[in-house]
Amino acid sequence: MTDARQGLSGLLDTEAIRKDFPILDRTVHDGKKIVYLDSAATSQKPRQVLDALSAYYERHNANVHRGVYTLAEEATALYEGARDKVAAFINAPSRNEVIFTKNASESLNLVANMLGWADEPYRVDSDTEIVTTEMEHHSNIVPWQLLAQRTGAKLKWFGITDDGRLDLSNIDEIITEKTKIVTFTLVSNILGTHNPVEKIIRRAQQVGALVCVDASQAAPHMVLDVQALQADFVAFTGHKMVGPTGIGVLWGRQELLEDLPPFLGGGEMIETVSMHSSTYAPAPHKFEAGTPPIAQAVGLGAAVDYLTSVGMENIHRHEQAITEYAVRRLLEVPDLRIIGPATAEDRGATISFTLGDIHPHDVGQVLDEQGIAVRVGHHCARPVCLRYGIPATTRASFYLYSTPAEVDALVDGLEHVRNFFG
Ligand code: ALA
Repeated sequence: MTDARQGLSGLLDTEAIRKDFPILDRTVHDGKKIVYLDSAATSQKPRQVLDALSAYYERHNANVHRGVYTLAEEATALYEGARDKVAAFINAPSRNEVIFTKNASESLNLVANMLGWADEPYRVDSDTEIVTTEMEHHSNIVPWQLLAQRTGAKLKWFGITDDGRLDLSNIDEIITEKTKIVTFTLVSNILGTHNPVEKIIRRAQQVGALVCVDASQAAPHMVLDVQALQADFVAFTGHKMVGPTGIGVLWGRQELLEDLPPFLGGGEMIETVSMHSSTYAPAPHKFEAGTPPIAQAVGLGAAVDYLTSVGMENIHRHEQAITEYAVRRLLEVPDLRIIGPATAEDRGATISFTLGDIHPHDVGQVLDEQGIAVRVGHHCARPVCLRYGIPATTRASFYLYSTPAEVDALVDGLEHVRNFFG
């Protein structure tokens, strides 16, 4: 152990946890052990989730809500059981408020389209405003641009301060009586910033605007309590929280889901259909047209069980310790500039940086040769890079299986990058 690691507390027993993640034993480039620092892009999956997926296909596979035979009933019970698990995980008042989608992008697009087709009092039109932030993933910008273009609504946004926080100094001018919806990320996927939710929600509630929270980078890492949050919609995705790809969640307040129109039409979402018109099933089914991602939902249920067994508070504490250590160690690297909060406070376990004038793609490639996996680029948050006048960043992100030794490997790897590029 290096001296720098003295005093680190709150760490999980990563030796035990890592045994659950077979991929973490892989080697690349002639026997280099993988150092996986890209969990913000997608997390690795524990054996428990992989087993749930194969057990579903090996023993229970059938379509849901349709058959009267045993397999169909088992598949339906597993799919709806996953909904119960997700509802409990986010403390939803009702399981009917949990809509399964294919990912967080689809969840956010669903909210934008519900509002796009809604009648008063939810209607978005040329007299109304939509508020987002400069810190969003493209998935929380583009759907709102599309909605604004279609309806004539004005799109406004909060800017970012030099140290990577939301600039809320003009909150009363950005969120006004004309605002219909305020949509923002709880934790930034590029800067790692943990945003001050209460302040934004209080102002939105003052003017009667709806609030949508992108919790993609929060749900995997901390307790997410939708009742305490007091938003109207919360979106997140399964694959970042040790679940499979192809499954996302939109939580919405029940009365809104009852009032708002569906987006996709088809099987499963109807009550009756004639050639002239249709009536719709109650939520959540109203928003789940077609055969849903059944196995993926079952996998997400297993992921929720896994995270719950480790404990979300414990995971959060572990990541805070790792982040505190990583910020401290990274700031020792000459020419390294953290893009975003350069402290461990009010931030998630995702750290973006530049290294002198070495292009992040070169940084990523030389790190990969040492077995270290980081993401490089604009991270689907190009407005953030434009804000800081940089083309891209290198991003390291940590999770429950990350260790201080992996932080050391990254720091050593960056020394190697610096030497390599002179
Ligand atoms: N949204 C994922 C990321 O930030 C893909 O990397």
